[in-house]
Amino acid sequence: MRHFLRDDDLSPAEQAEVLALAAAMKEKPFEQQPFAGPRTVAMIFDKPTLRTQASFAAGIAELGGHPLLVEGKLAGIGHRESVADVARVLGRQASAIVWRTYEQSRIDEMAAYAGVPVVNALTDEFHPCQLLADLLTVQEHKGALAGLKVAFLGDAACNMGNSWALAGAIAGMEVTFGCPDGFAPAYGSSTVTDDPVAAVAGADAVVTDTWISMGKEEEADARRATFAPYSVTSDLMGHAKPDAIVLHCLPAYRGSEISADVLDGPQSVVWDEAENRRHAQKAILAWLEAQRHD
Ligand code: NVA
Repeated sequence: MRHFLRDDDLSPAEQAEVLALAAAMKEKPFEQQPFAGPRTVAMIFDKPTLRTQASFAAGIAELGGHPLLVEGKLAGIGHRESVADVARVLGRQASAIVWRTYEQSRIDEMAAYAGVPVVNALTDEFHPCQLLADLLTVQEHKGALAGLKVAFLGDAACNMGNSWALAGAIAGMEVTFGCPDGFAPAYGSSTVTDDPVAAVAGADAVVTDTWISMGKEEEADARRATFAPYSVTSDLMGHAKPDAIVLHCLPAYRGSEISADVLDGPQSVVWDEAENRRHAQKAILAWLEAQRHD
């Protein structure tokens, strides 16, 4: 049984295979329907969501399946009943489980007991589905991934920083993190600098994320001050390659981690990126399902 709990659950060859499947599914959205029947895929959200819920629900429907929304707060996973018991119950109803939650250890436990593939729809540590969408978007705009220079600016000590460190390396990209001391990714072995200009120099793609991840709201003021020099502005973009693209997983806070003119400008690919969540997630669900029958 394969799961997708963190970016390095896929080897380089498997990551490329999933991205190729995503591109094919984008071109012909209804050709492959591994969940036709219909079968059910459970989605659980312990944290806020817009893109993830919408793109999984639409994608599961396009795969011929039925998306079952389980309210994280109502289910009370880990206190009303244990993660292991929830996993055993949902694994008897659904063909796969998609979960957005807090600690990675929770989704690891879900995977250990579910008996069906489990997909990480964001944890404190990783956001691997977003990375598949990001890589698909870069591939579409740049033609290939290996050898490209990526600069990630701002709070790299979060799920997006960790996932870029792992998935970028798996794709053969050179990822440089421009972040204050103490805010480097905790995973992977990437280049880190506290100089935002050095980070973006010659970059093919510039990536940022909110400075105030879900759960960090109480630190908002301190964080705005800490990360201010790492805002992706048109001045900073002047140091990247002239044809560099800009990615942001959204939600975006214009005037904080990114300026409005960059987010809404010609280098921004954020709406493609948001759309590509659906294609990328369809591909990982279909790929995991195929592994069960191999
Ligand atoms: N780092 C952000 C990503 C949002 C999709 C968060 O965890 O809130």
